[in-house]
Amino acid sequence: MKSMKNLQTLTLLPTLALAGLFISISGSLSPRPVLTGPDVAYLGSRVAFRCIAPHSSLPVTYELIWNGSALIATVTDLQGNKTASFYLKFTATFEGSYHCKATTQGSTGVSNSIKLTLVTPASNTRVTSEPFPPVAYEGSRIELSCSVAKGSHLSYTWFFNRTEVTSSTSPLILLTGNQLVMGKVAPEHDGYYSCMAWSRVQDATRFSSSSEVQVTVKVYVSKPRISFSISKEGTSHHGNVTCWSTRGSPPVNISLSLDDTEVASVTAAQSLAAWFAVHMVPGLNMGVARCRVTTEVQELMSEPVTLEMVPVGGDVKVEVEYLYSADSKLTAAKLSCQVSRGTFPYLSWLLNNSSLPTETDVDSHIHPVLYHGVLTDGRRTLVLAKLGPEESGYYRCRARDSYDDSGPWVESAAVLVRVKDRILNSLPPATSSTETPPKVFLNTIDVLTIAFCCFLLLMLAVGVGCVYKMFDHKQAHAHVATTDSDALPLSAPTSQSGGE
Ligand SMILES: *[C@@H]1O[C@H](CO)[C@@H](O)[C@H](O)[C@H]1NC(C)=O
Ligand SMILES: *[C@@H]1O[C@H](CO)[C@@H](O)[C@H](O)[C@H]1NC(C)=O
Ligand SMILES: *[C@@H]1O[C@H](CO)[C@@H](O)[C@H](O)[C@H]1NC(C)=O
Ligand SMILES: *[C@@H]1O[C@H](CO)[C@@H](O)[C@H](O)[C@H]1NC(C)=O
Ligand SMILES: *[C@@H]1O[C@H](CO)[C@@H](O)[C@H](O)[C@H]1NC(C)=O
Ligand SMILES: *[C@@H]1O[C@H](CO)[C@@H](O)[C@H](O)[C@H]1NC(C)=O
Ligand SMILES: *[C@@H]1O[C@H](CO)[C@@H](O)[C@H](O)[C@H]1NC(C)=O
Repeated sequence: MKSMKNLQTLTLLPTLALAGLFISISGSLSPRPVLTGPDVAYLGSRVAFRCIAPHSSLPVTYELIWNGSALIATVTDLQGNKTASFYLKFTATFEGSYHCKATTQGSTGVSNSIKLTLVTPASNTRVTSEPFPPVAYEGSRIELSCSVAKGSHLSYTWFFNRTEVTSSTSPLILLTGNQLVMGKVAPEHDGYYSCMAWSRVQDATRFSSSSEVQVTVKVYVSKPRISFSISKEGTSHHGNVTCWSTRGSPPVNISLSLDDTEVASVTAAQSLAAWFAVHMVPGLNMGVARCRVTTEVQELMSEPVTLEMVPVGGDVKVEVEYLYSADSKLTAAKLSCQVSRGTFPYLSWLLNNSSLPTETDVDSHIHPVLYHGVLTDGRRTLVLAKLGPEESGYYRCRARDSYDDSGPWVESAAVLVRVKDRILNSLPPATSSTETPPKVFLNTIDVLTIAFCCFLLLMLAVGVGCVYKMFDHKQAHAHVATTDSDALPLSAPTSQSGGE
């Protein structure tokens, strides 16, 4: 702007020189007014233009001209401070260029022109959205626009949950013009959005804020799961089928079908789970149940579950598996409880006739066995990570129907679980074996006994060998058919000698 003015002054210089020449000739002075005033103003605000003609003789008439020809106002200066002030209130769009004219004694001077821009303050700001209302599934696009009823030269600021949004704070949000664009919405975009449209003229800022709009990001529903449980009241049994999804936005409709026929349906408004009561008869197959979850965009089915309730019965037995490390050291024992019949078994373990506490017995002390042991798979498996004297003993497991607290237990036979480290060196270097625990342990006496037995056996063999030799000598002609036999030398001669 300043350089522009300088340029103007430069180009004006020859003209001024010429004018000076003209003045000296004519003897009269032509006024050269200067117009000052703002180049930008708010619509509706008051602004002042001043026209100054310093080298003019009184009286001077000043005119403010808009867009080259339209006369806005006229002021006549009679006092002589050579300044005319024009106070204007822009109620309409009087944008354009302004200049003034100063007339004195028949000569007229024209001022510089000022290009005035009028700024309309924002009003009635609101947020509009695509889609409307701003509800969309994760991964889809939501565009918010900051719309004003009136306003020009506007800037926009967006707020999410009352915090200003910038492109750097939310990389998934794009701010362009008056829009906030979420190309792929995620659940964390859920919340309240508002915008502010604002403009600034000199030091004055005018703004208009919208009210908040709620953006809802819906989550797709995951495949439903199904489970069922039994409760016993008096002599009758009630089945309770649970259908649930782990992910998704409610509301959803959840229905239960039995053998492909829908039998019940509920609308889950807050949660993603529903329960259905089903009639159960012990030992009877009541059909195949499935859960179905529907939303306006999805329909998902659970895996099938056979509604069958078989009371615990048959045999219960404990299988022991010893686990060895690569260097043949016993590291753990794994006991599993096998129940031959029953759909809802409740299992418990006994050591030397006293029951081991379950993980649900919170107030009991940690049993020494469970200090090193872990119950898994619904108490079906007991893993003993250490086998010392405290863990050794007779293990049994027992089962009853989980829905019948007072029902009878079916117990397994006791299995002896114990170990002494020394035996392990003589075991094959398997990392795992399923044999029953070794019941023979070698201590010093055992070793002596075995050595003695071996000696005895050897003596016997030598003795028998001698007898055989003698026999052989006696019947040197006899043919002994022992070609296909590697039978024990003790028994082979006696059983075949009578044949010839
Ligand atoms: C000129 O005189 C008017 C009225 O007396 C006054 O309001 C104005 O401020 C004066 N202007 C200058 C530049 O002195
Ligand atoms: C005045 O001039 C400006 C630009 O110089 C133009 O935009 C505007 O339309 C004009 N107004 C009228 C009423 O001619
Ligand atoms: C925004 O506010 C909503 C509603 O209070 C809340 O559910 C959401 O978690 C908030 N989001 C963030 C990122 O703070
Ligand atoms: C089914 O079980 C759930 C959870 O255990 C319980 O909230 C619900 O009331 C039960 N429904 C019926 C019909 O028994
Ligand atoms: C749920 O079921 C009701 C009644 O059958 C129906 O009006 C509604 O549209 C369904 N809602 C969904 C999300 O499918
Ligand atoms: C467990 O109890 C049975 C019968 O009451 C008894 O015969 C057996 O010796 C007991 N076992 C142990 C290890 O105490
Ligand atoms: C269980 O009983 C056996 C035989 O009576 C005994 O050797 C073992 O130490 C007992 N175990 C525990 C943990 O009491």
